[in-house]
Amino acid sequence: MKLEKIPVHVGIIMDGNGRWAKKRGLPRIEGHKKGAEVAEKIISFAKELGIKYITLYAFSTENWKRPKEEVNFLFTLMYQYILTKLPKFIENDTRFKVIGRIDELPDFLKEGFRDIERKTAHCSSMTAVFAVNYGGRQEIVDAVKKIVEKGEPVTEETIAKNLYFPELPDVDLIIRTSGEMRISNFLLWRASYAELWFTKTLWPDFTEEEFLEAIKDYSKRERRFGGV
Ligand code: FPP
Repeated sequence: MKLEKIPVHVGIIMDGNGRWAKKRGLPRIEGHKKGAEVAEKIISFAKELGIKYITLYAFSTENWKRPKEEVNFLFTLMYQYILTKLPKFIENDTRFKVIGRIDELPDFLKEGFRDIERKTAHCSSMTAVFAVNYGGRQEIVDAVKKIVEKGEPVTEETIAKNLYFPELPDVDLIIRTSGEMRISNFLLWRASYAELWFTKTLWPDFTEEEFLEAIKDYSKRERRFGGV
């Protein structure tokens, strides 16, 4: 199959884990567990398609409002994910990166992130970015603070250069599952010209086929970036 245009950077808001679990009479955390498995499949598939960057919204700065048990479970799940998936990342030549206010996370998770970032730094086929304790507004504020500290002028270029992972390009396509049609503070600076794709499917039910559908849809869209 030939796609006309492949997005360089795809962002995903993995929504609906809780509802997926509730529908099955399971605790919410079961939805997150299944969601993590789906994330793994989609990362591999994105690499096969030739996508260079995929950013997954794993924990927002607003997610601290959830019950403490659920927050702790998510952190533990991410940590286990790092430990168990590291060989697969290396085998798939996929670099791991994390963006967000990482300093505020528990030490074990911070160290886990540092470790997997270091051990996959040489991988170059694709970069999988996890947004954790991430907020788009906070990212812009943090960038501007760094610029001011350095005494540089505040311009579009200096802001872009001081975001969490400056190499990460603008996001071409944002996918959100579970029927919600919002950006929810995701990649705000880089999302200025992003194409948006929504589905009612809950994240744990999301498949490679549906991901491909989103990419095909994107490949047919005409992007004018404010021009004609
Ligand atoms: C949104 O569903 C999902 C989250 C806030 C967490 C996303 C996290 C994962 C998929 C697991 C961790 C990721 C990896 C890859 C290790 P929700 O809980 O808001 O669902 P609801 O809206 O139905 O309640």
